[in-house]
Amino acid sequence: MNTKKLAAERAVESIEDGMTVGLGTGSTAYFAIEKLGQRVQEGLTIRAVATSKRSEEQAIGLGIPIVPFAEVGIIDITIDGADEVDRRLQLIKGGGGALLREKIVAARSAKMFVIVGEDKLVDTLGAFPLPVEIVPFAHEWTLDALKGLQLNPELRLADDGERYMTDNGNYIADCRAEAIEDPAALHAELNAIPGVVENGLFVDMAHTVIVGREDGSIDTLTR
Ligand code: A5P
Repeated sequence: MNTKKLAAERAVESIEDGMTVGLGTGSTAYFAIEKLGQRVQEGLTIRAVATSKRSEEQAIGLGIPIVPFAEVGIIDITIDGADEVDRRLQLIKGGGGALLREKIVAARSAKMFVIVGEDKLVDTLGAFPLPVEIVPFAHEWTLDALKGLQLNPELRLADDGERYMTDNGNYIADCRAEAIEDPAALHAELNAIPGVVENGLFVDMAHTVIVGREDGSIDTLTR
């Protein structure tokens, strides 16, 4: 069962004519954009903003109108994936490296719909390494500060072995926190470090989490 596709296609059912839609990034968001493209080709009238270059390219290829940020007040619904979701609908995101743009778009959204397979549900966040976007300048010092928080940061590498670079020209430090008991507190600590641009904790941002299950059923969790 493709649990990602299941959740993604259910989320797209909520999109209506006239909406402004935020397009997430990753292998689950990919299915949502595909479905949305299909609906646009069938006559759905929407406009969209994207959280990464690759999602924008996918959308344009499907005929989904991408509009400039200056023309968007509030995004009606953003549909995006996640790497972990806890019982309070707090998230770790950024496995795909797009966390900064994803957070900027989510913050401007009336509703954030998170689409996941059931394997992403956890009791406590932290088994998935927490991505932290850092600026290249003096990044060694930023890594030192992350080590000071006992986060064992590792600079992410791209497939070619070079340092991974985000769409914003920054690095990602993948941090191992093991169990994140207080996501809001860690979020504040991380973003207080000079050199940290943003981190992958999405605290109180998800409005609805749509979970695709192996047996073909779908659960909807709402804040
Ligand atoms: C992209 O930066 C991420 O936040 C993704 O949304 C997240 O990693 C989920 O990715 P998948 O849908 O590929 O599992």
